[in-house]
Amino acid sequence: MGRSSLVTRGGGGWSGDHRTGFMILALVALLCRLDATLAESLSPDTMDDAATPRNAPAGPHYRNNLELEEALRNFTQRCSHISKLYSIGNSTLGVPLWALEISDKPGVSEPEPAFKFVGNMHGDEPLGRELVLLLAEWLCENYLKDSSATLIVDKLHLHLLPSMNPDGFAAKPNPMRNNAQNVDLNRDFPDQYFPANNNEGKRQPETRAIMNWIRAVRFTASASFHEGALVANYPYDGNLAVNQNCSVSPDNSTFRYLAGLYANNHPSMSKSKEFVGGVTNGAKWYPLYGGMQDWNYLHGNCLELTLEMNENKWPPPIKISQLWSEHRKSMLELVLSTVTVSIHGF
Ligand SMILES: *[C@@H]1O[C@H](CO)[C@@H](O)[C@H](O)[C@H]1NC(C)=O
Ligand SMILES: *[C@@H]1O[C@H](CO)[C@@H](O)[C@H](O)[C@H]1NC(C)=O
Ligand SMILES: *[C@@H]1O[C@H](CO)[C@@H](O)[C@H](O)[C@H]1NC(C)=O
Ligand SMILES: *[C@@H]1O[C@H](CO)[C@@H](O)[C@H](O)[C@H]1NC(C)=O
Repeated sequence: MGRSSLVTRGGGGWSGDHRTGFMILALVALLCRLDATLAESLSPDTMDDAATPRNAPAGPHYRNNLELEEALRNFTQRCSHISKLYSIGNSTLGVPLWALEISDKPGVSEPEPAFKFVGNMHGDEPLGRELVLLLAEWLCENYLKDSSATLIVDKLHLHLLPSMNPDGFAAKPNPMRNNAQNVDLNRDFPDQYFPANNNEGKRQPETRAIMNWIRAVRFTASASFHEGALVANYPYDGNLAVNQNCSVSPDNSTFRYLAGLYANNHPSMSKSKEFVGGVTNGAKWYPLYGGMQDWNYLHGNCLELTLEMNENKWPPPIKISQLWSEHRKSMLELVLSTVTVSIHGF
């Protein structure tokens, strides 16, 4: 898992112009190639995005971008009392980046915390697309029946972005990690240590959409979904020395609390052999630069975790419902932490 997990958050990125950075880059490029070869050899037949929703296969599958949009529209019609669908912008190829807001007063500005989940930042890590929809369905079904569901809907605004990288997901012949301009979106944000991404106008459309969204909605906390490992990763992802040393933020203990909350509510994450307690500081795992997590914290006052949800990057679709049951409590507790404990940005 060490290797494959290195590739999921890592891969194809810039690490500064230090010698260590160069070595990391070379290693990562090698791993990236291995990874691409592996992806090609797996070539799941469930990845076809060309099928129209009507022709979609019966049974569990990862919904393509059209099906996803249809499911979101369907949801907002059935659950209109607690939801609102909006787009935060378009992908490189013009696919809307849909976000679903869940609240008893969706679209209304209230003095309540806001939380976001972002899925599918890497096109070849699809699980988050389905998990956020399952979460939405669960909340709609259990609102006013289950106390957690009711608390979430009544006391905060939950924003769900199933796919940050719909182009990478729909890439032919295989889904790819990067966006349509072959940029790893988790290396494209301005970084606190290196200036390479400082020019905001040159960021990818997906990155800019997220940055504007974070500035517009003042999120208290958030998480983005990845696969390739099973661990809750917290800031900082980078350090100046470009080494695998802890790089902690002023809110280190809050982050540790949130990451632990997630890991401890999952049946096996906290028993990890690789990561003590199922959590890790980002830089300690391996440093990365231009990531979304640190930008959220430094520029959005938003406490963001990077959640590695499953060791296999593309879990067979038959496993989606099992993965949902395994992660449900963790997801709910993380969202609830914004109202039950006074989690706040710095
Ligand atoms: C939503 O989808 C269900 C089936 O999943 C269907 O029965 C229903 O008619 C759809 N509703 C809307 C409003 O599209
Ligand atoms: C996305 O593209 C559509 C047309 O394809 C356009 O109408 C819309 O304004 C775009 N959205 C943003 C936020 O740029
Ligand atoms: C962590 O930093 C110390 C110096 O502060 C250094 O000696 C050590 O090699 C670093 N560890 C790694 C893994 O780079
Ligand atoms: C970060 O916080 C945790 C939990 O409070 C603590 O155990 C750890 O020592 C802290 N790390 C640093 C480097 O301060």
